[in-house]
Amino acid sequence: MAGVTDLVYRRLARRMGCALTYTEFVSAAGVFFNPNKHQPILDIDSDEHPVSVQIFGNDIEQLVFTAQFVERLGADIVDINMGCPVPKVVKSGAGAALLKNPARVGEIIRAVKAAVRIPVTLKTRSGWDKENINVIEVARVAEAEGVAAIALHPRTRSMGHDGTPDWTVIREVKQAVSVPVIGNGGIRSPQDARRMLADTGCDFIMIGSGTIGNLDLIRRTVHYLESEVLLPEWSWPERLQLALEHARENCAYWGEPKGPREMRTLFSGYLKGFQGAAALRQQLNQAETLAAIEASLLPWIKSNALISMT
Ligand SMILES: Cc1cc2nc3c(=O)[nH]c(=O)nc-3n(C[C@H](O)[C@H](O)[C@H](O)COP(=O)(O)O)c2cc1C
Repeated sequence: MAGVTDLVYRRLARRMGCALTYTEFVSAAGVFFNPNKHQPILDIDSDEHPVSVQIFGNDIEQLVFTAQFVERLGADIVDINMGCPVPKVVKSGAGAALLKNPARVGEIIRAVKAAVRIPVTLKTRSGWDKENINVIEVARVAEAEGVAAIALHPRTRSMGHDGTPDWTVIREVKQAVSVPVIGNGGIRSPQDARRMLADTGCDFIMIGSGTIGNLDLIRRTVHYLESEVLLPEWSWPERLQLALEHARENCAYWGEPKGPREMRTLFSGYLKGFQGAAALRQQLNQAETLAAIEASLLPWIKSNALISMT
């Protein structure tokens, strides 16, 4: 997820049991024109494997260059984004705009696949809009060109992130192709994950926004899928402790004040449902140093009162 799944986030996700992490999407044009510029978005931990680096673009030369570039960096998988709805991206013919052009999808996958040894995968949506739900056609083209897996977020481009993802489309794609299908969209609980697997027959599940400020969802989901035992949600002190660890790692990686600032959206996730914490939220939103974050969070973590606030 752009702006979210940096190295620190992915490190924590793996610690929670995530089997495969994806980077934020990386512009192929950006890498192609500035290959020597250090982009933190491309930082990968030496022990972060398997990791999928997601790239986006429409220009084949740029996509091929970038796929080879990320392969050299240590990516285990190169994933091509064909689902991003953002106007700036679709205007350039990339992201979800590719759904309008299945022939181009085929050309891109063929070229990228021929250029790298690592698996090439695809992440897409159900179609451009409700009149043009064509992901089955796109999936078949991608499969014919040798894509290794297809991740599907079954909203149309027009829906953006609104409305309910239509999981029946995941089932239809699963039935239409034989490569692994990764179901995505709307998983907010371990039971949702189980339901998506059962209802759609997909091979794997992908969780995005449900993990923002709630990385524990990964731990509980993995445990539930493996054992059918539903772990209780973490207590507030445990949750805030994870928020603090996240902040510490973010500050170590990004420095100050960027690290604390990067935490702001994440803190609002970590504090979701936390009654009476308006003052805490405000302090965290203003914090520019790790010391300020610690000074705000530690009293709450140590306070037994938290336990009754769930
Ligand atoms: C803040 C944010 C950033 C995202 N960035 C990306 C991205 O870079 N690449 C991508 O394939 N999807 C991206 N997505 C979409 C998610 O990967 C996912 O497909 C979508 O949110 C639905 O799944 P979810 O309900 O589990 O979040 C992003 C979503 C959010 C909320």
